[in-house]
Amino acid sequence: MSELFDAVDVIMAKRDGHTLTEDQIDWVIDAYTRGAVAEEQMSALLMAIFLRGLTRSELNRWTDAMIASGERLDFADLPRPTVDKHSTGGVGDKITLPLSALVASFGVAVPQLSGRGLGHTGGTLDKLEAIPGWRAALTTDEMMAQLRSVGAVVCQAGSGLAPADRKLYALRDVTGTVASIPLIASSIMSKKIAEGTSALVLDVKCGSGAFMTRLDLAQELARTMVEIGEDHGVRTVALVTDMSTPLGLTAGNALEVRESLEVLAGGGPADVVDLTVALARQMLDCAAEVVLERGIPAAGVSPHSAEAQRRAGLLREADLVEALHDGRAMDTWRATITAQGGDADAPLPTARHTDQVISECDGYVTGVDALSVGQAAWRLGAGRAVRTDTVQAGAGVELHAKPGDWVATGQPLATLHTDTPDTFSRARESLTGAWTFGASPIERTPVVLDRVAAS
Ligand code: URA
Repeated sequence: MSELFDAVDVIMAKRDGHTLTEDQIDWVIDAYTRGAVAEEQMSALLMAIFLRGLTRSELNRWTDAMIASGERLDFADLPRPTVDKHSTGGVGDKITLPLSALVASFGVAVPQLSGRGLGHTGGTLDKLEAIPGWRAALTTDEMMAQLRSVGAVVCQAGSGLAPADRKLYALRDVTGTVASIPLIASSIMSKKIAEGTSALVLDVKCGSGAFMTRLDLAQELARTMVEIGEDHGVRTVALVTDMSTPLGLTAGNALEVRESLEVLAGGGPADVVDLTVALARQMLDCAAEVVLERGIPAAGVSPHSAEAQRRAGLLREADLVEALHDGRAMDTWRATITAQGGDADAPLPTARHTDQVISECDGYVTGVDALSVGQAAWRLGAGRAVRTDTVQAGAGVELHAKPGDWVATGQPLATLHTDTPDTFSRARESLTGAWTFGASPIERTPVVLDRVAAS
């Protein structure tokens, strides 16, 4: 079959800093997905994009072409607005677990199509699979039924959503082109837009445990994704949040479920509660705006009713904290877990071996490096090196000292959990220098660093 364009012309156009045409973009994504553009040609184009970037209109078209490579879900028949959250990934980031239940307890549908972890950041599905019986793979009909009955569903994203992205992401991984803002933004947003959510809240992480280690770059990534979402009719807001320190006190699958349950029971570490509430507020505000703008009835609420107006403007964080304390969010969590075959009352798995990391000095903790803790949890068996690895449900790191805490010599800084004790020494190596100390207490920095919305 004769092709519309020559891949070399497209590569040279981007290499020389020209704007690609819509037809060139549509063709190159389609031709690559069906194997008519060679891996080495797409590698060269990705590197040209990495170095030259994409304009806003090129990026929208690139995202459209990735969406068009697969199927699109449609939640239009649901009697509630849909709002999803996506995190760019961090250490100890268990927020989806309490957040999806909390937001759904306010009558909004939360379809969370998630993935498994690779490398030092854990995957939401791996965490939930620590719960006996819970299953990640649902059919579209099962997902829709659960959104109607319970309101929240966290499940495996089907392979039919933006398949071009899967192929491109694997190629970026081996060509040094992952850390490109337009390529990250189009990769994430193509999947989220194909998923069909009416609103989206992004948690863009910034710090050593994140893709973006600099605040200005995290803000740029957030802005780029918000623009793509809004240009595609998805109400999109981003919070840029701190990932220099792990979130909460645990990194590892069952350990993070346990901590999420503490949050759903009205307790848990302050940073996890603060971020859960901050993201829930953005999600509910976005859902309310969708209700008002597009007239989607929210759980029987007419778009112009006083209730919808209240949801749009007056929902306070205190209302959300109350739902964590009075059991409403926990009830939704239990219903979500049960609907997916999980036993919400079963004891969580624990690792067979533990070991402690002990402080060798006195002082106030000034930092705990997120990347080091993520790598240690991964080495203990909580994460994967390649996609086919299995993870240990009980493995991970439990922190006993976070920034602002005083520790004395001999006090435990962390407990390491694993079924494979030969991993302890490598995990300890990862943690060398992870804690920094000072002579005086430090102010704990807020977890939310910025909010980015359409201007
Ligand atoms: N997550 C994605 O889905 N894509 C990227 O490019 C980076 C993170």
